[in-house]
Amino acid sequence: MKKNGLIEEHAILAESQGVRIRRMVLYAPEIATKAKAGQFIVLMVSEYGERIPLTIVSRDATKGTVTLIFQEAGLTTTFLGRLVAGDFLYALAGPLGTPTEMACYGEVIIIGGGVGIAEAYPVAKAYKDIGNRVTAIVGARTKDFLILLDELKAVADEIHVTTDNGSFGRKGFVTDVLKELITKHKYNVVYAVGPLPMMKAVSNATKAANIKTLVSLNALMVDATGMCGSCRVSVDGKTKFSCIDGPEFPGHLVDWDELDKRNKIYASQEAHVCKLKLAQGSLT
Ligand code: FES
Repeated sequence: MKKNGLIEEHAILAESQGVRIRRMVLYAPEIATKAKAGQFIVLMVSEYGERIPLTIVSRDATKGTVTLIFQEAGLTTTFLGRLVAGDFLYALAGPLGTPTEMACYGEVIIIGGGVGIAEAYPVAKAYKDIGNRVTAIVGARTKDFLILLDELKAVADEIHVTTDNGSFGRKGFVTDVLKELITKHKYNVVYAVGPLPMMKAVSNATKAANIKTLVSLNALMVDATGMCGSCRVSVDGKTKFSCIDGPEFPGHLVDWDELDKRNKIYASQEAHVCKLKLAQGSLT
């Protein structure tokens, strides 16, 4: 009998220059029944590992599965990448976080940068499903890291693609396209998810144009239930917890500099531990 946390499928979605983005399908029937766009799960690879949050990209309530997409970017995602179909996660909890605020806004722009494209997709789909007109802007370093383009084309009314080096779509950044679009047409909401500098640049661009902007923050999390305080962010001068109040917040009100500093707080320790554990080949 299948058990919660079973890895049903696992494949590399994109790989280049030593960077890997992976797609994993998990058996998690309760999460698959309840999850909404914008929510995430928290998982542990082993008893000795940390908990990490990953956005739920899609769900299939009939099969009882959820799909995750992640980039190997540290110790836990590297060990997660070593699991194969048939393996089990040590622990899995979700759905967590507040779902994306859904309303019929009319014209909506969804922006995904890098692996954030995977997080932008379910939001684009959900906005489209309730009748919004969705314009998607996605960007990556090179064409090798452009993921879910077909899926996004299927739900977006319009899609714009950028790469830093011009290997696919327009050479430049998602904000170049955004700035052009908002000068030509009226949009009611902009939603952005991806690297922090990109979300900050998007928020700055839309603030000047007075367009409601939502961002999905990637704050550091430990317990993901509102008890530890590690994911706190300042929004409009008030302390909020990303895990329970977010992960989405109004981009114009986020204290970006503070968030950037907090996200780097354990960078040197993480790099040190990561090197040790990878060399030893286990999380114990
Ligand atoms: S992760 Fe601990 S309060 Fe949010």
